[in-house]
Amino acid sequence: MFKWANLLTRDEFERDIISPDGHIKCQLSLKNGRISYCVYKDDHLLVRPSKLGFKICGEKPLNQNLGLVREQRRNHTETIEMPWGEDRYIPNNYHESAFYFTEKKDEKRIFTLRFRVFDNGVAFRYEIPPQPKFSQITLKQELTEFNIDPGATAWQIPAYQPDRYEYNYQRTNVYALEHSVHTPLTIHTPNDHFLSIHEAALYNYGSMTLKLNQRQVLSTDITPLSDRTIAHVLLPFRTPWRLIMIADSATELTTNRLIYALNDPPKSDFSWVKPLKFIGIWWAMYVGEWTWAPGERHGATTKHAKEYIDAAVRLGISGLLIEGWNEGWEGNWLENGMHNQFTTATDDFDLPIVTSYAQSKNIEIVGHHETVGYVDNYESQLKAAYNYYAANGVHYLKTGYAGSMMQINGRKEYHHSQLGVNHYQKTVELAAKKHICLDIHEPIKGTGIERTWPNLLTREGARGQEYEGGALSPSHACYLPYTRLLAGGMDYTPGILDLTNNVKRMATTLARQLAYFVTIYSGMTMAADRPFVYEEAQPKAFQFIRDVPVNFSQTKPLMGEIGEYYVVARQDRDSKDWYIGGVTNESGRRIRISLDFLADGAYAADIYRDANDAHYRENPFAINISHKKVSRDDELNIYMAPGGGFAIKLKRLPHRS
Ligand code: NOJ
Repeated sequence: MFKWANLLTRDEFERDIISPDGHIKCQLSLKNGRISYCVYKDDHLLVRPSKLGFKICGEKPLNQNLGLVREQRRNHTETIEMPWGEDRYIPNNYHESAFYFTEKKDEKRIFTLRFRVFDNGVAFRYEIPPQPKFSQITLKQELTEFNIDPGATAWQIPAYQPDRYEYNYQRTNVYALEHSVHTPLTIHTPNDHFLSIHEAALYNYGSMTLKLNQRQVLSTDITPLSDRTIAHVLLPFRTPWRLIMIADSATELTTNRLIYALNDPPKSDFSWVKPLKFIGIWWAMYVGEWTWAPGERHGATTKHAKEYIDAAVRLGISGLLIEGWNEGWEGNWLENGMHNQFTTATDDFDLPIVTSYAQSKNIEIVGHHETVGYVDNYESQLKAAYNYYAANGVHYLKTGYAGSMMQINGRKEYHHSQLGVNHYQKTVELAAKKHICLDIHEPIKGTGIERTWPNLLTREGARGQEYEGGALSPSHACYLPYTRLLAGGMDYTPGILDLTNNVKRMATTLARQLAYFVTIYSGMTMAADRPFVYEEAQPKAFQFIRDVPVNFSQTKPLMGEIGEYYVVARQDRDSKDWYIGGVTNESGRRIRISLDFLADGAYAADIYRDANDAHYRENPFAINISHKKVSRDDELNIYMAPGGGFAIKLKRLPHRS
């Protein structure tokens, strides 16, 4: 082990850490006992000199009088194979430097700063070893800055709000940010680079939000606990990675996978994890046909569950979500969550009967736990609740935390605080033990821990389609790929084809609902509408939902602009077929897609696109479905109507010699 004591320190130094391809440079400097870093891409300064350090409760800030004890360098080259997701192979190539610092007087406290510089980003974290004087600390504040050019533009959602991450994205100048904002925070610099500031491997610490500090520099504002500290930790402790993703274009940013590269590989066997497409006893509640609570219109009855299982079989969909099956939904469920029971079904629902029926038909049941944020109530039943599902052969579980705050240890805490983060982690680990895959709603944001815990198949963490009916505009889904989705997959609940329902009117065209299955990745993907809509009203459009896979081998963003439009191609992991999806905002647009990313040979294209007179408000159902043979030499000319989009399946045809 490296020994720090009594080593000579350097008081001034500057070190460049260069990316493997030589284009990105992170410069760390120590001057007058203070540390700062900056980041360049080629000759462009992307992050100006930015200070580092933190405050420990009851102590002086740990950001001054510092001396460098030693530097350790290392290069790493690796290709990660992901068990499921958007890309099977992810490069993990970086140059690393670890800098060991000590205070030169007083306490002589010590810590390490570890930097990794990749071809598409820079990451660093603080590592605090046990100190001569103490073995546990309470952190008061982290003093990390990201000093971005004042002229840069950012796309943000506000932090510390009752609806957690569920807000519409706003475009603002970085220096007009008035409150703390969530990450990923995507930024366009005046020298035309695209950055996204985020974090990776968030464990046992408050989630990072960003705000302008007193110097008007963007800096960390770690989500506090109710005692106004940010974390109580035992030493040694490592903060999450602070990550700056870097790209030359907005579309290139959308496939930055550094959050996974910065997480550890799994520690046990997860070969049992399988991505899933599912329908649900769900949207019928949103449109008022059924209720979560027991009563005449109760959705989750044994009878309805069996009918939906039969429908899933006919539709070729492998799973069924059942919400409202347990006791606790009576009255105003958003206020009564402290009474929810996770092992007691309502009188009209029999879990063993439903699960054995599902097993006989080869359908996976997706269980449901709505906690409304009452973590104390949930944790008191956690083991029994997971055992109950596991004993009944349930391998998938959707959880929810719909309250505006969590209740933990009898106090109100933010979902994104250290205690919230630790609760979510407890569920992921318990689920892994029971071989259960998770879809977490009202979650902690994604920081790539799916690499270590592949049973965390998806999460919500942004406005999804349940906000349709007034609170979603067509631009929303054109922001997501460049913002929220940089944090990993999302359960957006695509595939609502009953567009003009009086209760929930969609601000999309029909073809666009199909596009979502490609533009928004989710390891558990819901075909969210009711079966009769798929079977009776829109069987032709439904064919795409039936065909599209939930696991891809590679993803190629083809074109787009933040908040305007996005077009992406993904290759199925189990075949040589490709799928393309595109969405546009309120503006219609005609695009030409080159198919030159295909392999040689012929493909059968099924094209689902907006008709020329389609419009998300006036004519949403107007769809044009066509079939033709194409090859990599072809270009497709596609019209996306206002609020519209398109979906294409490209089936690889057998080679004829
Ligand atoms: C909010 C979730 O996002 C939604 O999917 C769920 O149906 C409700 N909470 C009830 O749990």
